[in-house]
Amino acid sequence: MSKQLILALSKGRILKETLPLLADAGIEPAEDLGKSRKLLFDTNLEDVKLVVIRAVDVPTYVQLGAADLGIAGKDVLLEHGAEGLYEPLDLEIAKCRLMTAGVTGAKPAHARRRVATKFVNVARRYYAEQGIQAEVIKLYGAMELAPLMNLADEIVDIVDTGNTLRANGMEPRELIQDISTRLVVNKAAMTMKHERLKPLIERLRDAVGTRR
Ligand code: ADP
Ligand code: PRP
Ligand code: MG
Repeated sequence: MSKQLILALSKGRILKETLPLLADAGIEPAEDLGKSRKLLFDTNLEDVKLVVIRAVDVPTYVQLGAADLGIAGKDVLLEHGAEGLYEPLDLEIAKCRLMTAGVTGAKPAHARRRVATKFVNVARRYYAEQGIQAEVIKLYGAMELAPLMNLADEIVDIVDTGNTLRANGMEPRELIQDISTRLVVNKAAMTMKHERLKPLIERLRDAVGTRR
C-alpha cells in the first residue's frame, strides 16, 4: 500500500457541507471542485488526495480499498452494508430522517404492501422486522410520485423539511432511522496506514466538536 491517502467524497448536497468541515480540519482542495470536470484532486496536504464520486459509490470505493477513507450518508451505508468498513466518526452534517410515507389520510389497502424505494435492502429489513408483508419496488428517484401513480402504497425515502411529501399530497408515517453523514475507513488501511490516518481522523473529530 502506498503512503498516500485517498479520501472519497460524496457529490451533491453532502459535498457542499463537507468542504467547510474539511477546511476546518485543515484539508483544502488545491483547486475549486465545483469549477472542474476533474474527479481526482490534490489537496494542501502532500499525501492526501480527494476523489469526488456519486454518494452511492463511496462505500464501494472504501470497502475495496480504492479509497482509504470516505464520507457518506448513513442511509447509503445502511443500504450498502458495513463489511470491510469502520465508521469512526459522525460528521453531523446533511441530517435527515429515513421514513416510510404514504398518501395523506390513505390506509395501506393491500394485504401485501407495495413499497417503492431506492433503499430496497433497508426497506426489506424494516418491513420484515415489523412483521408486514411487503413487495419492494426499486426506483432510482422521485419516489414521491409512486403512490400518486398507484405504482405503490407507500415509499421509503429521506425526509428533511417534509416539503417534498407535502407538495405531492403525502405524509410521513414511521421513522426508520435518523440519518447523518459519516466518516468511513477501509479496515485494512486502518491497520496498515494507522499512523497517517489517526491524526487525520482526530482533526476531523475536533472540527466536528468545535461546531457543537
Ligand atoms: P442523491 O443524488 O443520491 O439523492 P444527494 O446529494 O441528494 O444524492 O444526497 C446525498 C445524501 O444526503 C443522502 O444519502 C442523505 O444522506 C443526504 N440527504 C438526502 N436528502 C437530504 C435532505 N433533503 N436533507 C438533508 N440531507 C439529505
Ligand atoms: C431528497 C429526498 C426527498 C427530499 C426530502 O431529494 O429524496 O425527495 O430530499 O427533503 P424535504 O423533506 O426537505 O423535502 P433530493 O432533493 O436530494 O432530490 P433527488 O435525490 O431526487 O435528486
Ligand atoms: Mg437526493
